[in-house]
Amino acid sequence: MITKLLLVLLVATEISQVVSWKRCDETFCNTVRKSPEGIEQRYYVESTSLVDKTVKAILKTDKPLGAPKLVLSINVYDNEIVHMFIDEDGTQTKRFRPTIALNNNLTQSSIILDDQSTVANGQAGIIRFEMTKNPFNVKIFYGERLFSEINPKNNFVFESLNNKVIAMGVTLHEVERAYGLPEHAEHLALKSTIKTGDPYRHFNVDYGHYQLESRESLYGTIGVLYGHGTKHSCGVFWLNAAQTWIDLETAPNNMEAFFMSESGVVDLFVLPGPTLPEAVQQYAKLTGTAPLPQYFALGYHQSRYSYMTQDEVLNVVNNFESHNMPVDVLWLDIDYTDQKMYFTWDPERFSSPQTLIDTLEATNRKLVAIIDPHIKVQQGYMVHDEATKQKYYVKAKDSQTAFEGECWPGLSSYLDFLNPDALEYYSSLYSQYYFNNTNVHLWNDMNEPAVFNAGADENTMPLSAVHYGGWEHRDVHNIYGFYQTVGTKKGMLSSKPDLRPFILTRSHFAGIQRYAAVWTGDNAATWKYLQMSFPMCLTEALAGVSFCGADVGGFFEIPEDQLYQRWYQAGAWLPFYRGHSTIDVPRREPYLFNDYVQHRVRTALFQRYAHMPVWYTTFYEHEITGEPVIRPITYHYPQDADALSIENEILLGKNILAAPVLEQGVVEYKIYLPGGQEEIWFNIDEDYKRYYGIGYQLISVTLDSVPIFYRSGSIITRKDVQRLTSVDTHQDPFALYICLDDSRNAEGRLYVDDYYSFSYTQNEFLYVNFSFSNNTLSFNHISNTKYAKAAKVSEIIFVNSKSYPVSAVHIIDGKSKILSATFAEGKHTYVVKDFNVSLDEPSTIEFTFKDSSLQ
Ligand code: NOJ
Repeated sequence: MITKLLLVLLVATEISQVVSWKRCDETFCNTVRKSPEGIEQRYYVESTSLVDKTVKAILKTDKPLGAPKLVLSINVYDNEIVHMFIDEDGTQTKRFRPTIALNNNLTQSSIILDDQSTVANGQAGIIRFEMTKNPFNVKIFYGERLFSEINPKNNFVFESLNNKVIAMGVTLHEVERAYGLPEHAEHLALKSTIKTGDPYRHFNVDYGHYQLESRESLYGTIGVLYGHGTKHSCGVFWLNAAQTWIDLETAPNNMEAFFMSESGVVDLFVLPGPTLPEAVQQYAKLTGTAPLPQYFALGYHQSRYSYMTQDEVLNVVNNFESHNMPVDVLWLDIDYTDQKMYFTWDPERFSSPQTLIDTLEATNRKLVAIIDPHIKVQQGYMVHDEATKQKYYVKAKDSQTAFEGECWPGLSSYLDFLNPDALEYYSSLYSQYYFNNTNVHLWNDMNEPAVFNAGADENTMPLSAVHYGGWEHRDVHNIYGFYQTVGTKKGMLSSKPDLRPFILTRSHFAGIQRYAAVWTGDNAATWKYLQMSFPMCLTEALAGVSFCGADVGGFFEIPEDQLYQRWYQAGAWLPFYRGHSTIDVPRREPYLFNDYVQHRVRTALFQRYAHMPVWYTTFYEHEITGEPVIRPITYHYPQDADALSIENEILLGKNILAAPVLEQGVVEYKIYLPGGQEEIWFNIDEDYKRYYGIGYQLISVTLDSVPIFYRSGSIITRKDVQRLTSVDTHQDPFALYICLDDSRNAEGRLYVDDYYSFSYTQNEFLYVNFSFSNNTLSFNHISNTKYAKAAKVSEIIFVNSKSYPVSAVHIIDGKSKILSATFAEGKHTYVVKDFNVSLDEPSTIEFTFKDSSLQ
């Protein structure tokens, strides 16, 4: 007993230990930040040439003596994205470039020169650039408008002699806010860092109970930064895997960013926008989009550090069932393993993994198991033996032996996922040890990578550790965890080629959306962490990573009832919805709370499940367009100056505005509704009461209230039958919520497929547009595809009581049929039941309307 207690305490201390993170002045940032003072480099353009479609400029500096010449290459992709790439002329210093982050889907545009005598000024499509040779500077125009400048302050740094530090300044003109650069526990609008403390830092770290409103680094790093405002938006993407600091100077009408990296090359993409959606989609072209997840992954996940036995897991499932609460996925944290040796199962507590897996499968549920990148140093443990024999570990500096550090299992070494053979070996492990079961999915954690008691190395391995190819850990640090997910996905796909894998990762880097979902790590059970989860996930979504969530209820500490239920209500409106808590807080599955709390959590869970068709359709659209699944209000309402920094509300797609209560003890909640008098928002929480998009408004709330608004003019598709897993709802009928605008028009889209396989990539799906105009609802296929097993539409709910239907005729293939529909008058809705309309074929339904006096 005592040993167990000690162990728990020890484990808990490891996780929450206070690490003193380096400040700018304790790193290379100190001197570089002061550039141009202090750093004696002034690059100028010595010569220029046009080679194929690339403008090349030779950059030279007279100081310091012996500094190599550099080559600047300017490329334009898809006539919009400008790529500025600077490396040494020749290969004197080895510099890492994290190209795996890129999607490689771009077409290089031809650059037309302004004047044949100069290659300094060029144009591709609407993009034009002008180069100043001394001091070296590039101005980039969108049409006639100057929107960005590279090296505006002539403080560009490219060190080659003693270290490999690089830095570059970029201005974004005519923008009022800075967004992006995840991951920080920070508001949507980033702050100016000039004279206000440290720059924003990018250095993936294991940081529990992190500080809020902070520029400190967290688990992930994505170098995309947007300048946004009521007139224009644009962006810049800094691609670099080394420790990076970013100074921001936000003036009322423009913004300057100064990117400083410890090594690498200048690899900078300028995204012209000119709107935020366009800039976000330009970034998505560069780094790709998330493949459509399986439907279940959008359901509710129940986790705990840790469920200690397989019976405990099954007991949780039984309790969810007996308390009539849906759950799709049960999670296994590190304790399912035999002494934290990944790819093993504890022989006593998890003596029959297959039984556990099969029992979950029988109730249509999935299992997610954790696999961390550290490997216990223990002879006889197959992964360690093989990794040692084949030299698959990251090596200690100046040695051929593996780096060793402390982590969950005690002394550990770290797989070097940058080594293709090591990656292959790692991914092959997923075809064994029960991971090849179709309902088992994965969680990669501690992959920053985390090293306990690392002292000055800030919870990670020394920057001098050596990776495959001779790269120092310093060069690749921020992308290490990304590589693990590449191996995990590969392993899952080769053992289950027909199934879309689900992976959650803590460490992340640009492009991670192609491999995994993320969450905001070790938060705590306070209102402030709940509030921060919204801007954190919104920022991730703008940076390509829509599949984001926060530990519902808070990882550390004990949530009081009100916070707990509010968190379930709010968490239902973030893409990844998982309850999780740490080892030393009491168990907190929703059925353990009193009846009132249970009722509210159950309602929140079912509300999430009812909207799964919207989540799924929006995820599909994200995959094909790059539009984020969740969006800040300003994404669709940029001209609304008051909405620029709104971050406690979320747009799911374009049509649902979620404003769950994120504050304690409120009876009136301040919401912001955009769009002006023209835009009507129906609060589903108040029987679809209408509100105008006229900005801030106070609405009365109780603990049961979850203010969720449907936009007038939209058609929202739901599944309202309540079931205990999402798989059980697959064949349940759809209900169309037709939110009429005052001209009685509405439109919406629905995507349906088999919800789990890749057959959708072979055109086996339906993508349907619903439109309502002239009293007629039409179903039209957006794509020429087929899927025979889609559920039918059985119910139509007219939202907006200004007019109501009195009869309906279904016309299909030119033939009309009177529908046996019953019209149930709701407070602000009219429900048309007993439909059975198939999505397979285009069809129309004509309604006869009467005007109503109801409002
Ligand atoms: C750290 C993770 O952030 C947390 O979610 C997990 O429970 C612990 N590691 C234990 O694996």
